[in-house]
Amino acid sequence: MTTTDIKFSDETLALVQKTIRRYPQGRQKSALLPVLHLAQAEFDGWLSAPVMDYVASLLDIKPIEVYEVASFYSMFNLEPVGKCLIEVCHTSSCWLLGADDIVKHLEQKLGIKKGQTTPDGKFTLKTVECLGSCGTAPMMMIGAQFHENLTLEKVDAIVEEWDGKGERSRYC
Ligand code: FES
Repeated sequence: MTTTDIKFSDETLALVQKTIRRYPQGRQKSALLPVLHLAQAEFDGWLSAPVMDYVASLLDIKPIEVYEVASFYSMFNLEPVGKCLIEVCHTSSCWLLGADDIVKHLEQKLGIKKGQTTPDGKFTLKTVECLGSCGTAPMMMIGAQFHENLTLEKVDAIVEEWDGKGERSRYC
């Protein structure tokens, strides 16, 4: 896919333009993070190079300025992800309360290693740094939804519910 094939829907484009107008003229780069979230939500949950080039053209900045930001934050995916993106926090509180066991359990259950996607494209498993929900550790995020105070049984129930729905997790 090339940049010329990529275009936001009219509805999303209107949102992008509204977001850009929040900032003073010449400071449109400030809209980069929210626009990347919109792009990820619109283009299958990840940011390909042509999508990032498209975002750069909308904000009138260089593509490298988009790549730098998109590759810095773990919430942006630079490779295709499954419909259900599972992000398990493995920082201090979550790690102390069993994040490693949750990751191992999910790896076994889904038949993949962290960082991989199931062959049917349903699930991607990632580990991420603190998501700010340390008081309810261990926790994981699916799309924009937090799942907290996890046990292995709770993890099973959540994954099975997603499997049944087969919908794409929402990113913003
Ligand atoms: Fe997991 Fe903060 S350590 S949410």
